[in-house]
Amino acid sequence: MRTSRRTRALLVGAVVVATVVLGACSEKKSPAILGGNGSESHTISGLWWVMFALAAAVYAIVGSFILVAAFRGRGTRHGRPTRITPDGFIWVGGIIVPTLILMTIAGFTVSTTAAVRKPSSQALRIDVVGKRWWWAVDYPGLGIKTANEIHVPVGQPLSFKLTSDNVIHSFWVPQIAGKVDTIPGQNNYLNVTVRKAGTYRGLCAEYCGTQHANMQFLVIAQSPGDFGRWAARESILPPRDLTEEQARGQFVFVNSACAGCHTIKDTQAQGDVGPDLTDVGQRQTLGAATIPNDTGHLSGWIANPQTVKPGNQMPPQSLSSSDLHAVVAYLQSLK
Ligand code: CUA
Repeated sequence: MRTSRRTRALLVGAVVVATVVLGACSEKKSPAILGGNGSESHTISGLWWVMFALAAAVYAIVGSFILVAAFRGRGTRHGRPTRITPDGFIWVGGIIVPTLILMTIAGFTVSTTAAVRKPSSQALRIDVVGKRWWWAVDYPGLGIKTANEIHVPVGQPLSFKLTSDNVIHSFWVPQIAGKVDTIPGQNNYLNVTVRKAGTYRGLCAEYCGTQHANMQFLVIAQSPGDFGRWAARESILPPRDLTEEQARGQFVFVNSACAGCHTIKDTQAQGDVGPDLTDVGQRQTLGAATIPNDTGHLSGWIANPQTVKPGNQMPPQSLSSSDLHAVVAYLQSLK
């Protein structure tokens, strides 16, 4: 009898340990949720640790009661089960302690929420629109438009204005801030200061259709000097002195279906269905951080984006091989 109780207790312990250990496994590396590299995520991770500490304490106490019960079993006195839970225990453990814990968490949550939504008047405004399935990015004060890669200066308050022109998406860069929904017909704001330079992966955190999982983006946090140089570079785009092949690529681009959906500044390509490609040559990824931006992937994407990201709004392009090479060379010059 004693052995079977011990076996049961060991089994319970093994299941608990396995759940905790295996819960940390994942095939695809996700962005760290406790990075704390932004003012907002730092505040939020403080709240997370308070909640974690309280939950861990409750878990340990309740778990130890279960273990004690598993070892002790139900005792009997004069042939009747013994009463092992006095009324006072139920009052304290069932009502007073949970109420105190919930009130503590509520207090921390309200103060944290108030702290992270405080706007700054010196903030750099960045307008982001959730598209299907990519992100349009506009710096209204700097005259820069781009997509899927958001350059930001470290140490300067940022104010993201977030909306959508289709369904609800959610803008989330776990390492720097909490998630904020982009809702059609409504502007939501996210105020944050990035504290550490680096490239942070962001994702859409609200199911929005077949390519929800591939609706990602990068936040490239740079020193103020590097950000200034990037912004200055953006302002002289697109390049004017094209090689013969690049110029032919531009001709093909603006005279084909490409121009109906994409904008390249200072050209006849002024479509607004797909991402603005004015600086596409300097982006690290294509298809909203789905594939790397190199010659092979770019050529494959243009020829048939549906094989890479099925269901996205760009149809396959039947360009001759030489036209495709020229278009690729032109797009790569845009940096
Ligand atoms: Cu956009 Cu999920």
